[in-house]
Amino acid sequence: MNFIRIRNTACFLAFLLSLSCCSSRKTAAPFSVIPYPQEVEFSDGSFDIAGSRFIVDPSVDDVSLSYIVKFSEELSTVSGRRSSVHRGVSGRGVRFILNTALPAEGYTIDVTGKSAIIGASSYSGFVYAIQTVRQMLPVAIYGGVRSRGDYVLPCVRISDRPRFSYRGVLIDVGRHFYSVDEIKRCLDIMSVYKVNVFHWHLTEDQGWRFESRKYPRLTEVGSVRHGTQIDFDPMHLRPEDHGGYYTQDEMRDVVSYAAERGITVIPELDLPGHLLSALAAYPELGCTGGPYEVANTWGVKKDVLCVGQEKTFTFLEDILTEIMDIFPSEYINIGGDEVPKDRWNACPRCRKKMAELGLADRDGHTAGQYLQNYVTARIQNFLNAHGRKIIGWEEILEGDLAEGVTVMSWRGTGEDVDPRIWNYNSVMSPRGYMYIDRYQSHEQDREPFSIGAYLPVEQLYEYEPYKGVPEYGKERILGVQANLWTEYVNTEEYLEYMLLPRLAALSEVQWCSPEDREFSRFRESMDRHRNIYETMGLTYAKHLWGVIGLPGNEYPARSPEELADYLAGRE
Ligand code: ACM
Ligand code: ZN
Repeated sequence: MNFIRIRNTACFLAFLLSLSCCSSRKTAAPFSVIPYPQEVEFSDGSFDIAGSRFIVDPSVDDVSLSYIVKFSEELSTVSGRRSSVHRGVSGRGVRFILNTALPAEGYTIDVTGKSAIIGASSYSGFVYAIQTVRQMLPVAIYGGVRSRGDYVLPCVRISDRPRFSYRGVLIDVGRHFYSVDEIKRCLDIMSVYKVNVFHWHLTEDQGWRFESRKYPRLTEVGSVRHGTQIDFDPMHLRPEDHGGYYTQDEMRDVVSYAAERGITVIPELDLPGHLLSALAAYPELGCTGGPYEVANTWGVKKDVLCVGQEKTFTFLEDILTEIMDIFPSEYINIGGDEVPKDRWNACPRCRKKMAELGLADRDGHTAGQYLQNYVTARIQNFLNAHGRKIIGWEEILEGDLAEGVTVMSWRGTGEDVDPRIWNYNSVMSPRGYMYIDRYQSHEQDREPFSIGAYLPVEQLYEYEPYKGVPEYGKERILGVQANLWTEYVNTEEYLEYMLLPRLAALSEVQWCSPEDREFSRFRESMDRHRNIYETMGLTYAKHLWGVIGLPGNEYPARSPEELADYLAGRE
């Protein structure tokens, strides 16, 4: 066979020309798979997948089979030609084979003019293979309704596996609450991009979103705030209450919905700071005893949990027990970021605890930071005893962090993060590249109000997690995550606008080898991907296409000259 290897845009265009010479009546869609697979080799011709038989090897497990059946049903509906699914070992059609020699999340797709053979060694491998196949078909496949089109695959051999095993997206539902349906829409698009972790930031100063059966006031009181800060001035409040929480059944439903899409939900109980909502509900958990209110302004709050008393740990262990009951993830995120030590330093109980533990300022760290190490270690021991591991934000490194913790870096890149991080497993989420709450253009008057700074899709795409990292640290990087904090993200359309298309760029950072990342190829593929968003009914940012703003409030991008004038005027 006449395989050609496609690595860059020029080759890709040549390949398209060559395809147009081989006179098949039906043409495959332009190859625009994101994240771009590790190995892709095209040959002439195409395979008509509509109406083809799906033959599933007996060694493929039933859960994978049910995912394959769902895809066959989707294809049948959209193409109007029925694909039936059979167990079997041979035959023409689309064959699914277990290949235990492939890496954990890897898969292969081998399309000839007569058949397609899909191999994977795990459920997620089959999920990713099918997501790649969907991206090779007309975008109508994302719409779920009958639609004319050429449901053909190009003849291609793909061998694919991720660069990183942890490929996460955080959504902060504490600052603003989003419906279960919206969370599912986000999971749908994460699955398209082979994201495998949904980091669910469920608790915040401004809202507690996790239904606890044991501590009902957490949702009765802690899930509602009175008013919301609407810009940088904490005196500017939208007066209405904002609230919401997820019932345990809803969270279980989200966990299984995500699992079906190859995504693990990692819940976060951010402790011992960022918990004013819990203190408002149970003031006895704080150092001063309150009263406290669910925060309606942004920023780091001084009131944190009182860790000089046992009842705080009883509370945390009870909540974590409920959390573990709902979330089967290997990891639980315990937060640990932005914990001012002011209250601990003034609290007789916390001071007594520091004295008992012999904690003092030393080696450039404060007694308060060592006290936070004590909290982290207690929670780590508790979760380890239940077979779980912890992840926490990088502040947990301050002082003397125990081993066995995974650290999530957010304040710097490999070049400027605290180098002690490389002694731990880590997930890289540097705010300069991975904080997708930032503006997507400099034209802030044409954007919905946001937290500030600037992170266009091009910049996120350029992030290289290994840059500046010593060799021994590279081995400890489990992966990369983007974080969508939501102080000002007050609607579901706005949430999607911040997520898309930056999520697509993120997926290439998480999945592709650095030499396969090429912005011009990615940019070309985005012309098709915006049609995927349109077909799925998702809102997305259109900066790549010269348009700025949310639907209903869209503007053309300024010309370079107008932009210069505009920026000069803002100074
Ligand atoms: C963080 O941005 N405080 C993790
Ligand atoms: Zn205290």
